[in-house]
Amino acid sequence: MTIVIAIDGPAGSGKGTIAKKISSFYNFPHLDSGILYRSVAYLCHKSGEKIFDEKNVLRYAQNLNLDNIDIDKLRTENIDEISSKISSFSSLRESLKTFQLNFKKIHSDKSGIVVDGRDITTVIFPDAEIKFYITASLKDRANRRFEELVLNNSKIDKKLVIKELQKRDQRDMERSTAPLKIAKDAIVIDTSNLTIEEVNSKVQREIEKVIK
Ligand code: DC
Repeated sequence: MTIVIAIDGPAGSGKGTIAKKISSFYNFPHLDSGILYRSVAYLCHKSGEKIFDEKNVLRYAQNLNLDNIDIDKLRTENIDEISSKISSFSSLRESLKTFQLNFKKIHSDKSGIVVDGRDITTVIFPDAEIKFYITASLKDRANRRFEELVLNNSKIDKKLVIKELQKRDQRDMERSTAPLKIAKDAIVIDTSNLTIEEVNSKVQREIEKVIK
């Protein structure tokens, strides 16, 4: 049996870092579902299309091959915004859902997988064996995002990062299809005043209870 460790949370919560740590500790394959939305956003952006048409967006998703995508180009403010905007298209979500379910199928020989995103605990893997909702204050999340963005562009304005993050939170939480929300059976961890190691041990303790 392949257990699913499902992790959701808003941008900058630290869920990606934790997902990577858990994946390498247990040797469970990891899927960062944000990469899927970001890759489609990147392809749309590259096409030069200004107002994104749902049919075109869907075509990019259906032909998505992550091997052809330069992951380093996906973490820019532009792609933050486009990915969050197109993620309200239900046909896109349906297509990427198939991709994510397939990830579990192709790893059915493994004892577990780790998947993180916005709707993993609620829509993609509602029966996941372990669910986490990782969050943090807006200020802490903005600081983390700022530090990440500054690596690519030194002229970033912190106030703007906070504003963009608020807009993204609002879009991700208020869209009608698969909005970000806390699943009833999710373990909620606020990482605001915790180090990565502290979060990691909390998460591992919960996982041990289930896989023992
Ligand atoms: O996790 P991230 O910041 O890389 O995700 C980028 C955008 O993709 C996010 O603002 C909304 C969308 N997304 C989503 O709608 N559902 C997911 N499971 C993952 C990401």
